[in-house]
Amino acid sequence: MKIKVYKNISCLVTNEGIVAKKGIRPKQDDLGIIFDGCLVIQNNKIIWTGKTKNLPSSFKKNTTLIDCKGLTAYPGLVDCHTHPIFSGDRSREFELRMQGSTYQEIAAAGGGIWSTVLATRKSSLAELTTLAEDRFKKISELGVRLLEAKSGYGLNLKDEIKSLEAIKKAKKSNLEIVSTCLAAHAYPRDWKEDKKEYISYLKEIVFPTVKKKNLAEYIDVFCDTGYFSVEDTLSLMDSAIGLGFSVRLHGEELDHTGIAEKAPKKGCHSIDHLLKISDQGIIEMAKHETVATLLPATSFYLRESPAPARKLIDSGVVVALASDFNPGSSPTLNLPLVGTFAAVQLGMSTAEIIAGITWNAAKSLRKESYYGALLPGFKGLPVFCEGDHPSALFYRFGYNQFLDPRKRTK
Ligand code: NIG
Ligand code: FE
Repeated sequence: MKIKVYKNISCLVTNEGIVAKKGIRPKQDDLGIIFDGCLVIQNNKIIWTGKTKNLPSSFKKNTTLIDCKGLTAYPGLVDCHTHPIFSGDRSREFELRMQGSTYQEIAAAGGGIWSTVLATRKSSLAELTTLAEDRFKKISELGVRLLEAKSGYGLNLKDEIKSLEAIKKAKKSNLEIVSTCLAAHAYPRDWKEDKKEYISYLKEIVFPTVKKKNLAEYIDVFCDTGYFSVEDTLSLMDSAIGLGFSVRLHGEELDHTGIAEKAPKKGCHSIDHLLKISDQGIIEMAKHETVATLLPATSFYLRESPAPARKLIDSGVVVALASDFNPGSSPTLNLPLVGTFAAVQLGMSTAEIIAGITWNAAKSLRKESYYGALLPGFKGLPVFCEGDHPSALFYRFGYNQFLDPRKRTK
């Protein structure tokens, strides 16, 4: 395959210092910006980064030269928390919420997760695969190159497996996917036995089957009031880890439960939402290098007070940002827009946001050695938008700004 040389990049964001500092307290200097930069890629791997004027002459012949003047290049984005496998539509809930109903009230009245479960169970594997393909395509057009995708709208063996198979079968259009089984998203309303029996069913039937079929790398649990208790979450975690899964959690979203104080020491890779995290939870997450994945599109959409991003970052927690794409609390596929929300609502700096949607997000998925930076050895997956400043992608917002430098008309 011919070597590709992206040259004259007005602002090349390499993330050199972010990688060196392991994503902790990112500063502007850590972005490793090279003005008038150049990127050399062979077999989808970066082999050289530097100033265009220092490009070794051996890369000037028999290579594909791509001019990137006027553009800012970022490492391909990483969305580390999405729920893309579902059918149906919940637009009515949006209207109800705007009229004052809460997420919990709507769920109790038969809407929420359960209404999506009923719709998703009615869809065939082929239908879910088509829906997934369409969503994956749109996600990759919005700059994402590594995506975490959860099941969680099946809530029984058959429909959880169907959802995970849809992720596996769908065409990926330029996207690597990490699959997560979220069969512990809610207690299914048609579960006739004791709630504790559902925990045993997950541990003894669902998780082992998912493992045997190799359909997921992660297990996730929605730990919150009205969903899974801290005790049940920790016991589900133990059994998942025992089966060889990695674990990430939804936690401290609707209420403070204390899960962030307990799950980090048990090896949880990421706790997500964290609107209600305690100071002790922050200390535990920093100590055990558990990534805090913040979801500002969700808090915006649900009109909740945002997560304490400043406190988390200043305390040394690795903070990632994700879309939480789902049909209820965050129906957006737009990760750069999440970056704008993080700036405006969470008070995060440009360096913190870029780390949050690239290297730090890859770290939450244990893929940080080849995603999230534009440095030799990393995947050669730059994404480009107009501009000569790292804030370019968040300063303009709400529409797709990515472009292919090879297809520019001069
Ligand atoms: O991350 N918090 C739990 N799950 C989703 C919402 C799912 C839904 O409402 O369908 C979330 O926000
Ligand atoms: Fe979620």
